[in-house]
Amino acid sequence: MTFDPSDSSALQAAAKEHLWLHFTKMSTYNTGDIPVITRGSGPYVYDDKGKRYLDGLAGLFVSMVGHGRTELAEAASKQASELAYFPLWSYAHPKAIELADRLAGLAPGDLNKVFFTTSGSEAVESAWKLAKAYFKQKGEHTRYKVISRDIAYHGTSMGALAITGLSGIKSDFEPLPAGGVRVPNTNFYRAPSFVAGSKEEFGIWAADEIERAILREGPEQVAAVYLEPVQNSGGCFPPPPGYFQRVRQICDKYGVLMVSDEVICAFGRLGYYFGAERYGYVPDIITFAKGLTSGYTPLGGMIVRDEIMEPFRHGDATFLHGITFAGHPVSSAVALANLDVFERDNLLGNVRSNEAGFRATLEKLTDLPIVGDVRGDGYFYGIELVKDKATKESFTDAESDWLLHDFMSTALYDAGLICRADDRGDPVIQLAPPLICTAEHFDEIEQILRSVLTQAWSRI
Ligand SMILES: Cc1ncc(COP(=O)(O)O)c(C=O)c1O
Repeated sequence: MTFDPSDSSALQAAAKEHLWLHFTKMSTYNTGDIPVITRGSGPYVYDDKGKRYLDGLAGLFVSMVGHGRTELAEAASKQASELAYFPLWSYAHPKAIELADRLAGLAPGDLNKVFFTTSGSEAVESAWKLAKAYFKQKGEHTRYKVISRDIAYHGTSMGALAITGLSGIKSDFEPLPAGGVRVPNTNFYRAPSFVAGSKEEFGIWAADEIERAILREGPEQVAAVYLEPVQNSGGCFPPPPGYFQRVRQICDKYGVLMVSDEVICAFGRLGYYFGAERYGYVPDIITFAKGLTSGYTPLGGMIVRDEIMEPFRHGDATFLHGITFAGHPVSSAVALANLDVFERDNLLGNVRSNEAGFRATLEKLTDLPIVGDVRGDGYFYGIELVKDKATKESFTDAESDWLLHDFMSTALYDAGLICRADDRGDPVIQLAPPLICTAEHFDEIEQILRSVLTQAWSRI
């Protein structure tokens, strides 16, 4: 090492010289400093100067049990000493077996078979590969297309990006794998006028758009529909009543697999182990990552219905897919310890009993002229910012760029709140705090947002 990592300015210089940040306009740091987070405790993290921040995004929708849990670090250390690594290619190890068994017990319906990955993108992409391979096993060779929703984020690897609905992050990488098809999302705040009067009607219309897409594309070519329980990108779109039930019927009618992408929504974000449970549907595949280990180590995967593995249980049939670090023993041990914390500290109960308070606290912000909509469920909220509340007029691209990137991101960070100011759809602030948060943290979030949003409005 050529520098002293305890020296903040040396750390800063080395970061600027060697570290390439993800999804980051690096030129921002030609002049400004890169934020450096050094440690965490509960729902708070601290930077290299010792300043404290409320982690209102659980890192990146990850730190469910909060920071600094030594029992998770100890589980990792113990497993690394015992068996640090062995692959799941033809072999198994006890922690992956135990974790698969536990996840099968928590998953809805007959989702019983667990295929591990290391990340969410790999989970999403693995589900697409599995859907294609499954249909080939069944003799339905033409099914390869995937339907997903406008501006939904499903990951960054080429396959996952083809499923992602955010054109802004795709164009540099075209051509992407063929077969990605878009349908409307469930943004009720901006529902088309002919269904804007009723959430139920809107939900049926949005679900029926999936049927129309299947018919347009040719049912014999469609393999899967990907949906998050609450769509993250765009600012938390919960499903309208009846939406998922209708989607399930449509998928059954055309023999299309329903994939619940729960990379964000699983493991307590919505007060349940899986979002599908909260909204009362049983998908064919659930993809997960992030919260399973609360980020103490990386781990992702998919849980699939018995029926989907069935063709691969006979003869030469093999799912020809694998990832070196998938189901890593250390990550599996950490995941088990993480789930132990969920049970011992009743984290699902904490979310369920406090979510109404979280919502009510955030809804106080609707007295501000810039706050158009507060939406979400559980510990997962989006606050849409508008130029005119009465007409729901949004900001222009230039205004939004200034508001979110030049002003709010820095102002919120300076004020001690980590959250996301996002304009991949209409401009929103996103919140997904650790599941240990209670009223005092919601108040802190509200107060910081009120102050920063008030300043933003006065400068527009
Ligand atoms: C719904 C969803 N799917 C997939 C992904 C990709 O996960 P990862 O970043 O672990 O590859 C994300 C990441 O935020 C996500 O939110």
